[in-house]
Amino acid sequence: MKVTVVGAGAVGASCAEYIAIKDFASEVVLLDIKEGFAEGKAMDLMQTASLNSFDTKITGVTNDYSKTADSNICVITSGIPRKPGMTREELIGINAGIVKSVTSSLIQYSPNTIIIVVSNPMDTMTYLVHKSTNLPKNRIIGMGGALDSARFKYRLAEALGAPISDVDGMVIGAHSDVGMVPLTRLATRNSVPVSKFISNERMEQVKEDTKVGGATLTKLLGTSAWYAPGAAVSALVQAIACDQKKMFPCSVLLEGEYGLNDICLGAPVILGKNGIEKIVELELTSEEKEALMTSSEGVRNVNSLL
Ligand code: LAC
Repeated sequence: MKVTVVGAGAVGASCAEYIAIKDFASEVVLLDIKEGFAEGKAMDLMQTASLNSFDTKITGVTNDYSKTADSNICVITSGIPRKPGMTREELIGINAGIVKSVTSSLIQYSPNTIIIVVSNPMDTMTYLVHKSTNLPKNRIIGMGGALDSARFKYRLAEALGAPISDVDGMVIGAHSDVGMVPLTRLATRNSVPVSKFISNERMEQVKEDTKVGGATLTKLLGTSAWYAPGAAVSALVQAIACDQKKMFPCSVLLEGEYGLNDICLGAPVILGKNGIEKIVELELTSEEKEALMTSSEGVRNVNSLL
């Protein structure tokens, strides 16, 4: 199993590190445009191998896509991250051109690859990968919902005073501050609806804190987060590489599901060796459906800027 991660910045390096630590891939290629940068990150990470007990070989390359040839999975993290006060949508001007050219270089050397898009605005970048390639929809996956759901679980556990392993919850819709749809109704503590333990008011707070999860970190760190994004990508990569058939909310091309067409938006999917093996359609309440429609309109507005 060969995995390429494009962009050796904080998110890309964190992805490579988590993939290596889980030790399921034979090779990770880290590629960056900055001379020597990916080579340095790869070497530093390889020097953790004996300490962290992994055999995955990480190599770094400067913009040489021939070294990514025959990758099974390619992760695109390239582009600029947001600064405090910026929305993910504001990055479209610069990132669209980068994502388009990275995608075409990757496909040139790995025509059968599965692509995971991380660059922001992620739902629109995932749509752009669809529009600019002829890849089947199961091979293009946007990473957002897995991260947003992890942030939701963190906030739920905080509100409940419970360990995170006790809670479950999912966020669908857009990977944006306003467009996320945390499914509070379906969130559980050890299979019991969380509404049994916390007030509606507290739940609303959990929802709001989840939606601005990325922005909160950007404000604290001065740039966007990397540990949880890297871990979320590595979970998707592992589900595909190990054919786990695990369910994650991911940005996926919708063709009638949830009443939506010609848009990439976060919905639960089953991930296995073929990438997206199934889109799961949930029974949503009218309020949840309305939130998803509003979310889709926001993404369509950004898509129209492509
Ligand atoms: C975040 C970036 C990855 O939410 O969009 O941290």
